Amino acid sequence: MTDDQIALQQSLTDRFGSLSYQVPTANPQLVHMAGRGSCRRFADKSVDDTLIETLCAVALASPTKSDLQQRDIVIVQEQNLRNEIYRLFGDSSWIAGAPMLLVFCGNNRRQRQLSKWRDKPFPNDHLDAFFNASIDAGIALSAFVTGAESVGLGCCPISEIRNHCTIISEKLQLPQHVFPIAGLAVGWPKQSPEVSMRLPLSVTVHRNFFTETDVQAEVEDYDQRRSAHQPYAQQRDIEHFGQTKDYGWSEDKARQYAVPQRADFGSFVRSKGFVLK
Ligand SMILES: Cc1cc2nc3c(=O)[nH]c(=O)nc-3n(C[C@H](O)[C@H](O)[C@H](O)COP(=O)(O)O)c2cc1C
Repeated sequence: MTDDQIALQQSLTDRFGSLSYQVPTANPQLVHMAGRGSCRRFADKSVDDTLIETLCAVALASPTKSDLQQRDIVIVQEQNLRNEIYRLFGDSSWIAGAPMLLVFCGNNRRQRQLSKWRDKPFPNDHLDAFFNASIDAGIALSAFVTGAESVGLGCCPISEIRNHCTIISEKLQLPQHVFPIAGLAVGWPKQSPEVSMRLPLSVTVHRNFFTETDVQAEVEDYDQRRSAHQPYAQQRDIEHFGQTKDYGWSEDKARQYAVPQRADFGSFVRSKGFVLK
C-alpha cells in the first residue's frame, strides 16, 4: 500500500468504525476529503476576494441537471450587510465570527425567463421546479466546500439562514423563484477541524436493493462508538427531556426533531412563486 492508501484506509476506518476491504487506490485529495470537518472557528484574517470568486467558479463547474444551471451564489461582501445578517443569529452564535458569508440559492427564475424570451409555454410549474433547483444549489455548495477545504480554508454550511428566509431574501433582494438553500461561512481556520464519525457504511451504502437489516442495532453500536470517542459536550433540551446517561447521536437527533423547525419554510417557498404540487 502507498502512504496515501494507508492514510485513506485509516481515515475511513476511524470515521466509519470499520472498513471491510482494502482501499484499491488513494491520492492526497481523497485523503483530504476523508478527513475533512466543518469549521466554526476562524482566524482573524480575511479571505482574498479573487480566491472566493475562483472557488465560486470551480463550484459552478460541478454537474447541473440537464445543463439548466439553476443555482446562483450571493457573496455577502459588504461588512454592514453581513453584520445585519449575523445579528439574526444572536451575538453568541459562532456565525458572527465568520470572515466571509456566501448564500447558495436555487434559481428557477432563469428557466422561466428563457421560456418567456423564446416564446415557449412552461407547463412545469410543480414540485420538480423547486426540487431541481434545490439539488443544483446543493451540489454547488458541496463543490465549493470541497474546493475551499482543498486550499486550506474552513467552511460550515448554515441552514439556519432558512429560519430567517423572508428577511434574508429581502436583504439580498432575491426575486421570485430564487430562494436560499443554505449560507456558507468561510474563513481561514483557527484550528484543525474535528472529524465527526459517521454511520457505518453497512447502514448507508446499499447493494442492488435497499436493506435495513439490523439497522437499529447498528445505530445503537454507532451511538456507543461515537460517545466513546466524541461525546456530546451538552445534552439538547434538558427542560423537556431531562439528562440521560446514554446520550448519543440518535438521542440528540431525536431530540432535535422533537420540536417544530422551519414550519414556515413551505409558505416562504410558495410566496416565492413555487407551486409545490
Ligand atoms: C445543508 C447543511 C446545512 C447545515 N447547517 C448548519 C447550521 O445551520 N449550523 C451549523 O452549525 N452547522 C450546519 N451544518 C454543518 C453540519 O452540522 C455538519 O456538516 C455535520 O455536523 C457533520 O459535521 P462535519 O461537517 O464536521 O463532518 C450544515 C451542513 C449542511 C450540509
